[in-house]
Amino acid sequence: MSGRRIPVAVLISGRGSNLQALIDACADPAFPAEIVRVVSNDPGAAGLDRAATAGIATETIEHRQFARREAFDEALNAALETAGAEIVCLAGFMRILGPAFVARWAGRLLNIHPSLLPAFPGLHTHAQALAAGVKLHGCTVHMVRPGLDDGPIIGQAAVPVLPGDDETTLAARVLAAEHRLYPRCLRLVAEGRVTVAGDRVTLAGGGAEPDTQLINPKS
Ligand code: GRF
Repeated sequence: MSGRRIPVAVLISGRGSNLQALIDACADPAFPAEIVRVVSNDPGAAGLDRAATAGIATETIEHRQFARREAFDEALNAALETAGAEIVCLAGFMRILGPAFVARWAGRLLNIHPSLLPAFPGLHTHAQALAAGVKLHGCTVHMVRPGLDDGPIIGQAAVPVLPGDDETTLAARVLAAEHRLYPRCLRLVAEGRVTVAGDRVTLAGGGAEPDTQLINPKS
């Protein structure tokens, strides 16, 4: 590896605990990526404070100020280009990005979703999992495609659904797994090891990649 750290932008809408996990990972100088900008569509997002505390430049682009989604996407794209981002991580970003934006960042636009996709896309994934009675739940980091919570899977972490779980306890168990999984997947992408072939991701080097398969990870 050349030692160059790949510039990454993180898009958020709220709490920013996954952002924090990425900030913490990037604090290691040996990590192959660095966060150069955090952008929120909501000026009240708590994650903006996390970024500021870490000394990362932030920007708020309020979607409400744009009449059309395309115009919001264009403003977002301009901000990311100005920041010099080469990879974009969605981390609790609650806006759907249009096809032009997604195509512009194809293969370099990651999302984390709190379920084992393709099960339970959309909102309220923990309630969906409890209602379905699944025994394993978890989270997925995937390349973004225009469909909701759709795209080639980079990595997944599975956790048990335990007797007595409610949405709160299950969400907390999954969230801890998210914080382990996202930095691992970003590392693989930043190292250039992730290639999208059709609907699937292949990893350079082939074979099983433990970083993409976390099972009941302890935090
Ligand atoms: C996470 O559960 C993430 O998977 C989902 O939204 C939540 C964001 O949480 N997309 P946070 O803002 O990272 O704390």
